[in-house]
Amino acid sequence: MKVFVDTANLAQIEELASLGILDGVTTNPTLLAKEGVAGKQARIRHYQKICELVNGDVSAEVLSTTYEDMLREAQELASIHPSIVVKIPMTEAGLQAMRTLKSQNIRTNCTLVFSSGQALLAAKAGAYYVSPFIGRLDDRTQSGIQTLQEIVEIYRNYQFSTQVLAASIRSPLHVVQCALIGVDAITAPYKVLKELVRHPLTDLGLEKFLSDYRAIEEEATSEAKTQVPS
Ligand code: E4P
Repeated sequence: MKVFVDTANLAQIEELASLGILDGVTTNPTLLAKEGVAGKQARIRHYQKICELVNGDVSAEVLSTTYEDMLREAQELASIHPSIVVKIPMTEAGLQAMRTLKSQNIRTNCTLVFSSGQALLAAKAGAYYVSPFIGRLDDRTQSGIQTLQEIVEIYRNYQFSTQVLAASIRSPLHVVQCALIGVDAITAPYKVLKELVRHPLTDLGLEKFLSDYRAIEEEATSEAKTQVPS
């Protein structure tokens, strides 16, 4: 299972990449806005920096909404770096754009997917990834995990090559549930990935191991001091 971080923050990406657990990055316009990345040139520079920090796919989203504009923008984004996967929203124009981009060998990530029916269409359109937003479904008392299960099953039934990228993940539990379902990839916020590392029993266990060993070392040192050579 690929692990992506859902952020546009360069320090967070650099830190997680240094742990050796990162397979890529997903961004969206909200995340770019959070980092104060304004204007086309600034966006291009920012995506370039992300691509240099991580060895893996980097999802960059179009801001356009019409078929022609999405195509033009997707081509520009894809030309920034070979790691770029262009995020296209699940709309009618988006479906058309994904089909055309596939024929131009431009990889797409179909974003804002909230149902298994939408995911089926994304696969038919030739999306490279489909991003079901599980947390936002949970927020509306619909089970994101159940929707994800349906998508994985449908894709298996027909051997669609589109990869399921579980998005809008809110907790380490979501990550584990996604892994149990067998998704191809997850994208989680920095905080969730950091929380995955930790367990209170790991911290307690490490503290005990080190204090036990420190005690025996101190004992050995004090014994050596009392044994005065004759
Ligand atoms: C996916 O690619 C989106 O960027 C993201 O996962 C949305 O998550 P949110 O619901 O936490 O904003």
